[in-house]
Formats: sequence, structure tokens, C-alpha cells
Amino acid sequence: MTLRVLFAASECVPLVKTGGLADVAGALPAALRRLNLDVRVLLPGYPPVLAALRERRFLARIEPLAEVPAADLLGAELPDGVPLYVIDCPPLFDRAGGPYQDGGKDWPDNALRFAQLGRVAAWLATEGGVGWRADVLHLNDWHAGLGAAYVRFSPRPAAPVLFTVHNLAFQGLFDASWTARLGLPPAAWSVDGVEFHGKLSFVKAGLQYADAITTGSPSYAREIQTAPLGMGLEGLLFARRAALHGILNGIDTTLWDPKRDPALAAPFDADSLSNKKANKRALQRRFGLREDDATPLFAVVSRLTDQKGVDLIVAVAQELIAAPAQLVVVGTGEPVMEAEFRALAKSHPHAIGVHIGFDESLAHLTEAGADLFLMPSRFEPCGLNQMYSQRYGTVPIVGATGGLLDSVVDCSDATLADGSASGLHVRPIDAAGLRSAIARALALYRTPAQWQRLQRAGMARDFSWDRAAFEYARLYAQISA
Ligand code: ADP
Ligand code: GLC
Repeated sequence: MTLRVLFAASECVPLVKTGGLADVAGALPAALRRLNLDVRVLLPGYPPVLAALRERRFLARIEPLAEVPAADLLGAELPDGVPLYVIDCPPLFDRAGGPYQDGGKDWPDNALRFAQLGRVAAWLATEGGVGWRADVLHLNDWHAGLGAAYVRFSPRPAAPVLFTVHNLAFQGLFDASWTARLGLPPAAWSVDGVEFHGKLSFVKAGLQYADAITTGSPSYAREIQTAPLGMGLEGLLFARRAALHGILNGIDTTLWDPKRDPALAAPFDADSLSNKKANKRALQRRFGLREDDATPLFAVVSRLTDQKGVDLIVAVAQELIAAPAQLVVVGTGEPVMEAEFRALAKSHPHAIGVHIGFDESLAHLTEAGADLFLMPSRFEPCGLNQMYSQRYGTVPIVGATGGLLDSVVDCSDATLADGSASGLHVRPIDAAGLRSAIARALALYRTPAQWQRLQRAGMARDFSWDRAAFEYARLYAQISA
């Protein structure tokens, strides 16, 4: 019998995206369907999600639960044909603004909004009300985490749960009073339940009650079992280590294919690497930078937050352009960081280009046009841009942490000699560490033969979802056996 899996997430490419979770939700379910699993996606009905649906079928009315309002469950399809369930609940989701925040502030009713996601997921794992009941419930990040508590306290038999923590820094913490208001029984309120330092924690519900836990890389799975990266949950994660698996994410190699990417000025691959230059020119032109092939062009596409270490890039920016080199930054995030980058672009208009905003197609051109990609993250559960970079012949310089360790082979005499080197690790992850990685990278850049070896090693790597999908399928089978 085909295994039925419900993949519940708060964002999904191409409908709604703030970060890598959307890329994963847009690609992993499709990869699992290629392995003949009946995977379906569940998303909140934000305006862009409802607007993008070609057809929507009303499937069921789900009654209120405590203060969580009633919702309609709609049936639809993602553009690539993956079946999609949408939670239509206008009082919670029909509003302008982002999925989590408006103008930099969390929506005040996020507890209700994401409890709704979790409990509808749990409903699909307990009821056969739509003629389809999940055999496995795959909950993603804190947004869906409370689903594990609803399953745990359901009076009906429920599907086993796999919880994926994409980023432990986001925990979904709310006032204790929400526990009852969201319809959870008093038994859930315990240190062995959803309680975390006096607050209700959605991520803890997932970590505590799931049958299996995964995260975006083997290194991050190890790191979160200790402080500081366990972010206060290291004890629980260590206790659950037998159920905790690090599975390196893949990338969508169709959407991110330098040979077929419509956002590029010129397509290229490892056999036509010289065409990459046209993209560098296009990027320089787009930002009004001095147009020349020889000056190394560094790029950043990122949320501008502390996690990503973008302040370290600000710290070395002057030295970088004195090298001489150029820098392009595409990002949004903390207002202070946005202002810092804007100021840099203003004082060095021909060497530094900055776009503050979320722009998918500019992100693609940037990956293609840059020579080097900067990602000095202080922690990184997986990270996707370092994989996009390698596929686009753009050498990544990455913090020596989490998924970056697991997906970029640091240049050393040994790895250069055996041809496996594909980027550079920043260690320690501070301004001095970044400075020295940049110096090493620039020395390699000046030796074209060596540089091309690095580029080609990255481009030859297989970052497709097939391997990860296989590992997920194995875990689903294990917990549903
Ligand atoms: P995270 O999810 O922690 O932000 P990832 O590396 O997993 O980090 O994924 C980030 C995703 O968001 C990538 O697909 C990246 O290209 C994209 N992204 C980040 N910032 C922007 C932006 N300003 N414009 C377009 N895409 C962006
Ligand atoms: C999170 C992490 C990032 C990861 C992504 C997808 O946003 O910060 O490292 O790649 O989730 O799993």
C-alpha cells in the first residue's frame, strides 16, 4: 500500500517564502512522490496562497476548538502537481503583511494562527473526513509543532509524527494561558510536555511528542545536543538523541539550474564556464558597479540577521573593496543591518551594490554573476545558498558550522590535491576568521587554473533531493511500521 504522508509547513515555494523552509516544502514532497509516496502539503490560506490556486475544492468544515476558530479545508494542487490542502480561515490568515510578522512585529495572534495549522494537520492524521487520512504526519518547524501535542492528546488513534526542526532559534513561545485557550489538556502543561521556562513552547511540543525528529544536517543534529546551539533545549535533544536524525537538505536542481535558469543573462554549465562572465557583467550593470571581468565579485543573498554573521561582512567591507574587490548584497532583515549596507553602497557606489528587499530572480542572477559567495553564519541548520553557489560555479566562503560544514569542502593542500575542495571555511567565526578566509580565497582566485578546479568541484557535486528523500522515506517507514 502506498504510504500517505501529510507535510505541514507554514511556507512553500512558489506560493509563499521567507527562507529555506519554503524551498524545502516546495521540493521535498515532490521528490518523495517520485519514490511513490502519496505526500500532500498542508498550508495556511494566506492571501498569496489562495490567489495562486487555479481551482479550489471545498472539502470539509473543521469545527472550532477552544479559542481556535472554525476553518474550511480546501483541496488544490501546487503548480508541479503535488496535492495541496489549504486552511481557509479568514480571521487568522486573510490579511496583508508577512506570514509571521507585520512591519517587523510578530502578529499578536500567532499562537492561534499556528495552533490552527497544527490542529488541522492533526485532524488529517486522525480523521478520514476527506477520504484521505495520513499514515505519517510530517510537521515542520515550530509553526506546525503543536500538531504533535494535538496528536498526543487525541482521543482517536492517530498517525505517527515526524518533526523537522529547520531552525531551533525560532521556538514559538507564548504565555502559559494559551495552553488551555488552544484546547490542550492540563496534562500537556509539564516539563515533559509543552512547558519551557514558564512559557508554552510550540517547538518543544514537536521535540517532545514526535516519534522521530530530523534537522537539516548531521552536524547541526550534533550541535543542538549541547549549549549554546541547543538554545536551552539541548537536554531534551540529548535525551531524544536516538530519535534525532540529521538529514542534509537537497536543492531543487530544476529551479536552480544555471543551464536553464530564466533569470540569467547567459546560461552556462561546467562545459561552458566562460559564459558565466556575461552574468557577472549583467550583475555589475544592474548595480552600477565598475564593469570588468578581473575584479573578484563577492555576493551575499541572505536574511540580514545575527545568525547569518552579516555584521562580520560589514566589518571587513572596507578591506574587501581595497583588495580590490566588489560586493553585491541582496537581503532584508534587521533595520540596523539594512541601514549599514545601504550606507556602504552609498559611500562606494561603484564597488558595493545593495538591494534591500526580497527578489527571487535577482537572487538567481546574483548566484550566477558572483565569483564568490559570503555566508559566515554563526550557526546554520543546513543553508541552501552555499549549495546554489556551488552549482553556479560561485565559490562559497562559509562559517564552519552545521550544514555548511557538511556541504562545503574546505580548501587545504590535501583537498586541493585530491580535487575535492569546493569552498572555504571561516574558523573561528569572527571578523578575523572571515578576513583570513577571504585572503586565502583571493590568493586562489589569482591562480586561474586552481580557481577553476574549485569551481568545477562544486559544480560536479550532486545536491539533488533524491538522497534526502530516500532517507525520509526510510524514516517514515520506520515510524509507521
Ligand atoms: P534561511 O532559511 O535560514 O534564511 P537558507 O539558506 O536555508 O537560509 O535559505 C534562504 C533562502 O531564501 C534561499 O533560497 C535564498 O536564496 C532566499 N533568500 C534570502 N534572502 C533573499 C532575498 N532578499 N531575496 C531573494 N531570496 C532570498
Ligand atoms: C532554516 C535554516 C536553514 C535551512 C532551512 C531549511 O531556515 O536557517 O539553515 O537551510 O531552514 O531547512
